[in-house]
Amino acid sequence: MIERTFVMVKPDGVQRGIVGRVLDRFEARGIKMCAIKMMRIPRELAERHYAEHKGKTFYEPLLAYITSGPVVCMVLEGENVVATVRTMMGKTNPQDASPGTIRADFAQVTGRNIVHGSDSPESAKREINLFFNDYELQKYEKIDESWLFEE
Ligand code: RTP
Ligand code: MG
Repeated sequence: MIERTFVMVKPDGVQRGIVGRVLDRFEARGIKMCAIKMMRIPRELAERHYAEHKGKTFYEPLLAYITSGPVVCMVLEGENVVATVRTMMGKTNPQDASPGTIRADFAQVTGRNIVHGSDSPESAKREINLFFNDYELQKYEKIDESWLFEE
């Protein structure tokens, strides 16, 4: 099923200059970009985004990390794309991530793991609405679609 997900290159990914290489992996797979923007996440938005982790030991360090510099947020679309992107990102702790995944290839520790991707279609909807307005989401046909998918 074609669906959408929310992906973010975190402040470490921006500072280390690997936004393009992360994006390239999704583009190379034929995953469609529907929105993209750079922003500095205000504390209140970070709290809402990571509300599920409130009270955990890593919550405050996580908020400090995610608000420490600009991030690049995007909405991606494709077949089963929520799970596909999670697989492409690899495990939360880069030490547990399989070679070839983004976190294994570009990161070393959980607290600086480069990317975020929604963990379910429900999370994706919630996060897309948190970060993007309707007018920022593009609906368009890409010329490679007939070669990526069957009739
Ligand atoms: P994300 O939400 O950022 O895509 O990461 P995730 O689903 O793989 O992992 P999640 O459990 O949602 O954790 C969110 C982020 O919090 C930091 N974290 N630190 N020190 C720790 O035990 C710990 N656990 C999580 C990571 O930056 C993780 O990506
Ligand atoms: Mg998560």
